[in-house]
Amino acid sequence: MGLKLNDDFLWGGAIAAHQAEGAWNKDGKGVSIADILTAGANNKPREITDGVIEGLNYPNHHGIYFYETYKEDLALMAEMGFKAFRTSIAWTRIFPNGDDAEPNEAGLKFYDDLFDEMHKLGIEPVVTLNHFEMPYHLVKAYGGWSNRKLIDLFVKYATTVFTRYQDKVTYWMTHNEISNQANLTDDVMSEFMIWTNSGLQFAKDTTPEEKLAAMVQAAHFELVASAKAVKIGHEINPDFMIGGMLNVAPLYPASPKPADMLAMQKARQLHDWFSDVHIRGEYPAEFEAFAKRTGYRPDITAEDRNALREGIVDYLAVSYYNSTVIKAKSDRDTNLEDVKGYEIVPNPEIPVSDWGWGIDPQGLRYTLNELNDQYPDLPIMIVENGFGAYDEVVDGQVHDQYRIDYLKAHVAEVEKAVVNDGIPVIGYLSWGPIDIVSAGTGEMSKRYGYIYVDLDDMGEGSGERLRKDSFNWYKEVIASHGVNL
Ligand code: BG6
Repeated sequence: MGLKLNDDFLWGGAIAAHQAEGAWNKDGKGVSIADILTAGANNKPREITDGVIEGLNYPNHHGIYFYETYKEDLALMAEMGFKAFRTSIAWTRIFPNGDDAEPNEAGLKFYDDLFDEMHKLGIEPVVTLNHFEMPYHLVKAYGGWSNRKLIDLFVKYATTVFTRYQDKVTYWMTHNEISNQANLTDDVMSEFMIWTNSGLQFAKDTTPEEKLAAMVQAAHFELVASAKAVKIGHEINPDFMIGGMLNVAPLYPASPKPADMLAMQKARQLHDWFSDVHIRGEYPAEFEAFAKRTGYRPDITAEDRNALREGIVDYLAVSYYNSTVIKAKSDRDTNLEDVKGYEIVPNPEIPVSDWGWGIDPQGLRYTLNELNDQYPDLPIMIVENGFGAYDEVVDGQVHDQYRIDYLKAHVAEVEKAVVNDGIPVIGYLSWGPIDIVSAGTGEMSKRYGYIYVDLDDMGEGSGERLRKDSFNWYKEVIASHGVNL
């Protein structure tokens, strides 16, 4: 038995345009940074190619054909009783190059139709402006977010869609998981993250300190762009709820050793400044100390600081998948600028998924409590949580009890956080309610859905949709307001 949540709790699911829509070059859409990512695999990173190269497998080019199938797919979400559905607007459908003088009407029309369809089904749209899919042209011609000019280009894009959909969308968020790039160490996955967040690539001999400096600068421009968009959004429609969006993985120390505690704290601070800027409009003291200590002075103007103060968010959108254990590499002091001062180690106390992601439902409740302690009473929407797993179809059925177990355990912790801890969580949107292309690996076989999509890693298959066992489970959870888990 779960705990009952209020009737207005936003139950639903979330996807991103580039992982689902396909139609990568249809109706005037431009090339995005996701369109030049090849398919990777479990433990095999995706390759970032120099433009689209004939003959390579680019899974985002087809996604799950949502551009064509959205009506049937949304009908299945409605059948589960979804109150809300999160997707992103592909920036490249609206401004194909990112710096075009005029928006692409065909792209704007697609999202008109999509949001109209959701309303017809009683589903509230929750919309991300920038979900790992910025225009590739902005990378080539401007150097991605290392360039201050991107602030204005992003604000123009945000203003265009805020204006167009002001009567259709209330819940927005600016950049998806903006702090992922702060995981910057010298491994391949973290370089992938600074690509997806900021469109930056590094030469082989770039030092960790140089990477960190580049990341801080790019992130600052993104935060200013976000704040300016928030301000304009509120002018366009004061009822807009515009959120900042972060992945929240609680950090645990590897041991009670003081060095591990300090390393964990420093790693956390490297993330916290994103939420502080979004929510309080100011960089925290440790960030200012870091800039001073390292002698590195990011280009942060007085006007920027003013914009940050004027553009604080209305709520915090979070994704939660797992927790992380931090170990100091030595017992000496660990500093924020020393990105190699700590390492991430496995947690022997929890099981892991086939992709090595630790399964930690209590960590979600812990995180929600931490956030509420840090930012009291700020509404929080969980906009991603889910279990990527291999599924098998037997006689047209998918018995995904493992997914139900994962989701059940996490929803139960959310309910405790709301009912017992009094935390204002306003919604739970599980990730990938319909199978989509994995962002990290480009696989179809890393499936999150309640709805199975018959496509494999090569994009082969009928595309047919099947209801998994978890479909009926989630339907019952929503119908019972969280009681029947
Ligand atoms: C989040 C992203 O980081 O994790 C999603 O916002 C992504 O885009 C999700 O799909 C799950 O990651 P993956 O690599 O399993 O698709």
